[in-house]
Amino acid sequence: MIAQQPSIQQIATVFQEQFGRRPELLVRGPGRINLLGEHTDYNGGLVLPASIDKEIIFAIARRPDSTCRVVAENLNQSHTFSVNELKKSPKGWPNYLMGVVDEIQKLGRKPGGFELVFGGNIPVGAGLSSSAALECGLAFGLNQLYDLNLETLDMVKLCQRAENLFVGVNCGIMDQFASMFGREQSVIQLDCQSLKHQYFPFQSEDYSLILCDSGVKHSLGNSEYNTRREECETGVAILRKYDSGIRSLRDASLELVEAHRDEMPGKVYDRCRYVVQEIQRVREACEYLLGDELAAFGRKMYETHDGLQHQYEVSCPELDFLVDQTRQDDAVLGSRMMGGGFGGCTINIVRRDQADAFVARMTAAYQEAYQIALKCYPVRITNGTSAIQG
Ligand code: GLA
Repeated sequence: MIAQQPSIQQIATVFQEQFGRRPELLVRGPGRINLLGEHTDYNGGLVLPASIDKEIIFAIARRPDSTCRVVAENLNQSHTFSVNELKKSPKGWPNYLMGVVDEIQKLGRKPGGFELVFGGNIPVGAGLSSSAALECGLAFGLNQLYDLNLETLDMVKLCQRAENLFVGVNCGIMDQFASMFGREQSVIQLDCQSLKHQYFPFQSEDYSLILCDSGVKHSLGNSEYNTRREECETGVAILRKYDSGIRSLRDASLELVEAHRDEMPGKVYDRCRYVVQEIQRVREACEYLLGDELAAFGRKMYETHDGLQHQYEVSCPELDFLVDQTRQDDAVLGSRMMGGGFGGCTINIVRRDQADAFVARMTAAYQEAYQIALKCYPVRITNGTSAIQG
């Protein structure tokens, strides 16, 4: 889950050493990026994520009893539990796995015990959804090994519930959906109301995606996330008085929000306006992708950042600084904070032949401003959760 990347071979070797046999199955569970559509998933809106080459590798095999023995290779930790007794662990990471087992059981399926080694290169706390990768990889592995007959969308939903209910994080569906449904060289336009999705091409010889990790993890992230959700719900309740068909901000037009501005607390108005505009931005940006207009797409990313900074208020000075650094940079088409906010990464579309120089410029500027060594991750869009043919 962190820093150096243990190879598939290494994970399989650790499995052999720990459990004295070969794994039955190798799975990769990727992290995700999101190009546009931030804080829209829990508002029934559109998002535009993709799964990437930062991933967790799972080596797994069934056991004849109900015991689950798990080794977290990067953390050098292990955890043992029974599928019949799922109790929250203070270690944190086992809860994502037990949550998945719990939700599979709630669907009436009966996976038995298993042995598992996992490890990978998704930086934890950087906003790349290592948690979704962990959930999705296990769900995929158990589905295959125990013939659980779960559709991919069932797995996405149960992984989200695992995080909501067992782990206790009130996330939307974007991360798990992206980790499962990702496709090489494409972004996923997911409609979070209907859960229908469509792929749009995202590939360029000339440009690459680079994440700049602020290294900041503000502890208020979780509580502010829940506050934003509540503010959006408050907005929906007000608008619904005028149109009973409004179930979420997805159903609201900008005109309706503007018409009832005076009835909303100021912050609620700001949040609603941002969400409605952001959903529209995703629609327009997808047209740009079809037209191969990456520069216009990049301008939408700046608009999104401005909305997240000033209207939705989930950015922080470090992220704003990183985005501001790129505004006059000819090598950069678009930049914005990515994910829940209050820390984590910015996502940047950067001229490939300028990538090294960009990283050098950003690192120097960040060091000078914040005395923090900036970590930059070039990322490639890959397929979603899948078995590794070994
Ligand atoms: C986090 C959540 C997602 C989504 C984003 C904001 O990453 O896990 O469901 O709400 O924040 O777009």
